[in-house]
Amino acid sequence: TAYRSAILHSIGDPDKVGMENSYEYFADGAMIIENGIVQGVGNADEILANESSDITVKVYENKLITSGFIDTHVHYPQTGMIASYGEQLLDWLNNYTFPAEGKFDDPEHATKVAEIFLEELMSNGTTTALVFGTVHKASVDSFFTQAELRNLRIICGKVMMDRNAPDFLTDTIESCYEDSKELIERWHHKGRLHYAVTPRFAPTSTPEQLDVAARLLNEYPDLYMHTHLSENLKEIEWVKELFPERTNYLDVYDHHGLLSERSVFAHGIHLCDSECQRLADTGSAVAFCPTSNLFLGSGLLDLPRLEKFGVNVGMGTDVGAGTCFSLLSTMNEAYKVMQLQGQALSPFKSLYLATLGGANALRLEDKIGNLAVGKEADFVVLDLAATPLLKFRMDNSTSLEETLFALMLMGDDRVVCETYVYGENRYSSL
Ligand code: GUN
Ligand code: FE
Repeated sequence: TAYRSAILHSIGDPDKVGMENSYEYFADGAMIIENGIVQGVGNADEILANESSDITVKVYENKLITSGFIDTHVHYPQTGMIASYGEQLLDWLNNYTFPAEGKFDDPEHATKVAEIFLEELMSNGTTTALVFGTVHKASVDSFFTQAELRNLRIICGKVMMDRNAPDFLTDTIESCYEDSKELIERWHHKGRLHYAVTPRFAPTSTPEQLDVAARLLNEYPDLYMHTHLSENLKEIEWVKELFPERTNYLDVYDHHGLLSERSVFAHGIHLCDSECQRLADTGSAVAFCPTSNLFLGSGLLDLPRLEKFGVNVGMGTDVGAGTCFSLLSTMNEAYKVMQLQGQALSPFKSLYLATLGGANALRLEDKIGNLAVGKEADFVVLDLAATPLLKFRMDNSTSLEETLFALMLMGDDRVVCETYVYGENRYSSL
């Protein structure tokens, strides 16, 4: 099938290759998809001239096609408690999060929430996510089952937590090893699915449990490691008390062998220089979650600083501390977080972070992240006239850069018309 529309996709980090070389734009573009893979992309004249006349051409008028968004940190079990009032991290966890997560030993409940979550991802144009389950094995079985039905490229894992949480949410050294192992063997590399070893954060794991995490990572190839890092000042103080022998927060994970190219740390807002350097040296990634960081009053991530050290960064919604599923809205908040620190975030950089940069952070850049030939056909069709105000604003735009910026500042799920996953239409508002 061919798709004809304006097409825009990221092909590099503007800070490394320059803005002009960071994207491709075809005002009248076409993309050829075969068996879920991009076979051609470019100007419609050239691309369609090479095709036989019996090819189906789907034409989108006044739309923009771009690659599916990538959410590098989100909690599916927190879907129903998004926007819970009044607390910062540690009280928010105790008062809202842990009670909500307690219900996920019930596969029926887990399945229902997984369905809502995955449909929400797709209606927001997100086609890949790195996802927290709960401590319960059932939460991850239900989630992967639903992700597989939709053919999404998804990474998830069972949360490991064996202290400082209610009894109904803790596992043990033995059970976390056995349950994780079983899930890895059932789901890791099944179709488009991947497993992430997921210790919740340092305060809820004993040192022995962190060793179990490392053991799993050593026993199976290409597992991810997914956790939280340095999000909130009280959390950081608590980590110091719990692990007095470690030099800093990151050193807790490092000491237990949890840093690698497949490690993703959510937040990393309050890091010292040596932590930034160590993240860079090990090829670890940080998930920047601006809506969550603002909602919980956690702080402002200094993105240019992390990048100066060479740390890979992707964008995360962090729902339910994050306040929406939209990567467009997340870029809007990211821009404001930068502004509060006297910086800006260019629209092409934002596009990169929400797509190809996320793919890089997740080491999936050979499969997803843009619409280059050979990539998996995960893409979205956006409507730049989705609301009267957006249309009016776009009519006044004089450049692609301005259009893209306004789209990110004003856009959310209302602009997502259709979402394609591996070449199949999985969501449509048309
Ligand atoms: N730190 C430990 N657990 C969580 C969580 O569920 N959400 C956030 N934002 N931070 C955490
Ligand atoms: Fe989180």
